[in-house]
Amino acid sequence: MTIDSGHMTAIMGPNGAGKSVLLRLLHGLIAPTEGEILWAGRTLDRQLARRQAMVFQRPVLLRRSVAANVSHALGLRGIVRPERAIRVDETLKLAGLEAYASTPARVLSGGEQQRLCLARALSLEPDVLFLDEPTSSLDPTSTLAIERLLLGAQRRGIKVILVTHDIGQARRLARDVVFVHHGRVIEHQDSEGFFEQPKSDGARAFLNGGIVL
Ligand SMILES: Nc1ncnc2c1ncn2[C@@H]1O[C@H](COP(=O)(O)OP(=O)(O)O)[C@@H](O)[C@H]1O
Ligand SMILES: [Mg+2]
Repeated sequence: MTIDSGHMTAIMGPNGAGKSVLLRLLHGLIAPTEGEILWAGRTLDRQLARRQAMVFQRPVLLRRSVAANVSHALGLRGIVRPERAIRVDETLKLAGLEAYASTPARVLSGGEQQRLCLARALSLEPDVLFLDEPTSSLDPTSTLAIERLLLGAQRRGIKVILVTHDIGQARRLARDVVFVHHGRVIEHQDSEGFFEQPKSDGARAFLNGGIVL
């Protein structure tokens, strides 16, 4: 499978298909037993992985303030203190959470927490951003806020690769769709083609909401 830069890529498929495993492989959280992962021709290593960021389905936050959650992540990437303060402000503004800077992160609503996680990932200015079903437990308004942030990230040149079960979301955001089933990439094509004329029986059944054998 080859993924182009520049536009958003959606990874879709039934539960247990291997979408999360694929994302973890691409980000180097687990190592492949076969095959290899190349980023612009270079084997994925620690240094490359540090140029990437990942957002999970459930918000992962420290028991600290909203601002401290962003600051901590920046500190881990070696951003020095004065620069950190500026980036924390920018990040909270981006997420619309300026008013909550000193609020404990865990007090935020689910949608706000996920927005914080996404903005924190963006504050690292990654080359690639992975998201694993980032809006599957959010309401439509919170989902839209996340999608807006993703479109903004894409405009700034960040490659976004997202796992989603939301067909509307994939249509709105993605240029291409990777369809995974039984641990394999079954098809990979333009999203328009994928949704209008899926090539595989598996994808057809998946899109019709049927049972995917
Ligand atoms: N590190 C791993 N190595 C091999 N198999 C794994 C690993 N982690 C999870 N699995 C298995 O791979 C399958 C796909 O899981 P997953 O990627 O989580 O599916 P989903 O498409 O729902 O995200 C599951 O059967 C899971 O148990
Ligand atoms: Mg998964």
